[in-house]
Amino acid sequence: MYTIDLTGKNALIFGVANQRSIAWAITQTLNQAGARIALSYQNERLRENVERLAPALSSAHPEPVEGSKSPLLVQCDVTREEDLASAFQKIKEQMGQLHMIVHSIAFAQREDLGGSFSKTTLEGFRAALDVSAYSLVAITRHAAPLMADGGSILTLTFLASERAFPGYNVMGTAKAALENEVRQLAYELGPRNIRVNAVSAGPLDTLSSRVIHGYTDMKRIAAERAPLKRNITHDEVARAALFLLSDLSSGVTGEVLHVDAGYNIMGI
Ligand SMILES: NC(=O)c1ccc[n+]([C@@H]2O[C@H](COP(=O)([O-])OP(=O)(O)OC[C@H]3O[C@@H](n4cnc5c(N)ncnc54)[C@H](O)[C@@H]3O)[C@@H](O)[C@H]2O)c1
Repeated sequence: MYTIDLTGKNALIFGVANQRSIAWAITQTLNQAGARIALSYQNERLRENVERLAPALSSAHPEPVEGSKSPLLVQCDVTREEDLASAFQKIKEQMGQLHMIVHSIAFAQREDLGGSFSKTTLEGFRAALDVSAYSLVAITRHAAPLMADGGSILTLTFLASERAFPGYNVMGTAKAALENEVRQLAYELGPRNIRVNAVSAGPLDTLSSRVIHGYTDMKRIAAERAPLKRNITHDEVARAALFLLSDLSSGVTGEVLHVDAGYNIMGI
C-alpha cells in the first residue's frame, strides 16, 4: 500500500483569505499529511483572518515551524517585487528548503467580471493578468532556487481558459495565460525535478467566485450537466492537490487536471 507522508517536507501556500479559500482546504490537507506549512497572505487586512485560522494547524502538526506552535506567516502582495523578495528571504531563513508551492491567487476589477468583454480597459486587463497569471512566473522564479531537491508547484485554474463563460471575461484570458505558463515552466524546470501543474476546479463558493456575474447560474448548470450530476467540494480539490503536490504524481508535470465532476468533457 502507498501512503502519503509529507513529514519533513515544506509547503508555502499563497491565497488563504478566509476559511472558504481553496488554499485553506489545501493547507489543511497538506498539514494532515505531515507537511510543514508557511502561509502567505496578501495584506494587513487579511492577516487577522490568517492568524485566526493558523492555530487549527498546529495540533495536527507534530513538529511546528520555528519551534513555535504556529505555521510561519509571511505577508506578500504578489504584484510587489519587494514583497516577494522579503517573503522568500524569510522562508529561506526559517525553512531552508521548499518542496511545495501552492499558487491560489486571482484578481480582476469587479467591473471586468460581467458585461461586455470588449469593454475591458487596458488597466483592468493588466491588473487581472498581473495578479492572476504573471504572479506564477514571479513566484516560481523565487521558489526554484529553494527547491534544491526538486519540488512541486501547483496553481488553480478554471475552464474559462478554454471555453467562453458569460461573466468570467478577462479572468478567462488570465487563466489561458496561466495554463500556458504551467506548460512552459514545467518544461524549463523539469530537468531540476521541479514539477508544475494546475487543478482546474469546478465552481466553489468563495470570496472570489461570489463576485463573478452569473456565478450562481454557472454553478447550478454545472451540477445539472456534469456526468457526476453534482458540484464538487473544497475537499475534492484539496485531495487532487495533495496528489499533484506529493510523490504520488512524480511522473506528472505540465498537466491541467480537471476536478469538476466531469463537466469539461460535455458537448452540451
Ligand atoms: N472558487 C471557484 O469557483 C474557483 C474555481 C476554479 C478556480 N478558482 C481559482 O482558485 C484560486 C483561489 O480562489 P478562491 O476561489 O479560493 O478565492 P479566494 O478569494 O479565497 O482566494 C483568492 C486569493 O487571491 C489573493 N490575492 C488577490 N490579489 C493578490 C495579490 N495582489 N497578492 C497576493 N494575493 C492576492 C487573495 O488575498 C485571496 O487569498 C483562484 O486562482 C481562482 O481563480 C476558483
